[in-house]
Amino acid sequence: MRILVVGGGGREHALCWALFPTATVFCAPGNPGTRNCATNLSVKPSDHSGILEAVRRENIDFTVIGPEAPLAAGLVDDLNAAGHHAFGPTQAAAQIEASKAFAKDVMAKAGVPTATTHIFTDEQEALDYVATHDEPLVVKASGLAAGKGAVVCSSREEACLALSAIFAGRFGDAGREVLVEQFLEGEELSVFALTDGENTFTLPASQDHKRLKEKDLGPNTGGMGAYAPVSIATEILLERIDKEVIKPTLRELADRGTPYRGVLYAGLMVSKEGDPSVVEFNCRFGDPEAQVVLPIASQGLADQLWSIASGERWAPPQPIAAQPRRVAVTTVMAAPGYPEAPQKGAPITLPSELPSDTVLFQAGTDDADGTLRVSGGRVLCATGIGPDVPTALAASHRLVDAVEFEGKVFRRDIGWREIARAGAS
Ligand code: AMP
Ligand code: GLY
Repeated sequence: MRILVVGGGGREHALCWALFPTATVFCAPGNPGTRNCATNLSVKPSDHSGILEAVRRENIDFTVIGPEAPLAAGLVDDLNAAGHHAFGPTQAAAQIEASKAFAKDVMAKAGVPTATTHIFTDEQEALDYVATHDEPLVVKASGLAAGKGAVVCSSREEACLALSAIFAGRFGDAGREVLVEQFLEGEELSVFALTDGENTFTLPASQDHKRLKEKDLGPNTGGMGAYAPVSIATEILLERIDKEVIKPTLRELADRGTPYRGVLYAGLMVSKEGDPSVVEFNCRFGDPEAQVVLPIASQGLADQLWSIASGERWAPPQPIAAQPRRVAVTTVMAAPGYPEAPQKGAPITLPSELPSDTVLFQAGTDDADGTLRVSGGRVLCATGIGPDVPTALAASHRLVDAVEFEGKVFRRDIGWREIARAGAS
């Protein structure tokens, strides 16, 4: 099987790494790391005709689209129209991520639990609303904002500032519609469901660490690390999520004439009582969650993605019983100044041999001038694998400590909730 992965971040490196044992993999554009498991093609994800040409030239069986932007721009529609198979939703179905207002409407119609939201297109109306509501609120741009469009506001003043910034164009057109949302208490969970539009297969649940600093302090980022599986995501909870969140959403999308194929990512808040509520939907794998979910659950991945992409009759795999417990933790190494103003260009030194039980995924790296250098906000992801979170975290740290670049920013406490839980029990 010949598979093209579109994108060039840590998630796409993880996809190439997971697919290459059973397939010939290409990556557009990829990064210096994907070269170890794929052939990089120098085509941008936004260049749809370039992607189509590469698919024809390389005789690709199907294309897996990593990031949200090309999905929202209709890359799957263009591939399908040219007679090619693709794993990922169409432009219409990708609205579940590209428009938070659309996602809220789908959830309301489907009866999916989520935070109460008010949607505004007029700044003064939004400010008037905030003036009469002083509980913690979350202010969000409706459109795509690279994971940075939500501001959790502890005061009215903060909410007003966030509204003014978004209406002044901080996120461009993505901020034309703005959501003011009830703050949900609880623990976040990322759940990825592979789906052909009707049937689902849930991968191990993971937990991202969005804040820049240890103890979950500092600004929201694209994600500073993740681990999987998460012990609060019991089989019973995952079944509830499938029945109360994923399936009703898929049915509603199908009823609207926009069936959803690909991976549906539910970003959830699980309350103290154990009830799940949707924070957001994404139309792709999470980054950095893919860097922990795929290393522990990639068996048969190429076949699964192929069946979904090609529209073959898909039989979701049965969970394999009695597998030895495998836990993965990934630590993101970011550039100094991330997320506001990442400094690029610093040379990177990698260890000549990776410590055991680790995988290094590259993201914001470049070696066009012959030296591996920092080229983006999140630079590398150090995944450690082990029987439990402390062992996997220690492996991840061994790898982080073996990588050098100036001003490397990272958290040492990825998985702290799980470690605290284990300590308490
Ligand atoms: P989003 O862009 O919707 O994924 O939001 C980014 C992050 O903001 C989420 O991962 C949460 O940490 C936080 N967040 C967003 N909405 C809410 C909410 N309603 N309640 C609590 N936290 C939220
Ligand atoms: N890790 C958050 C995201 O992929 O959106």
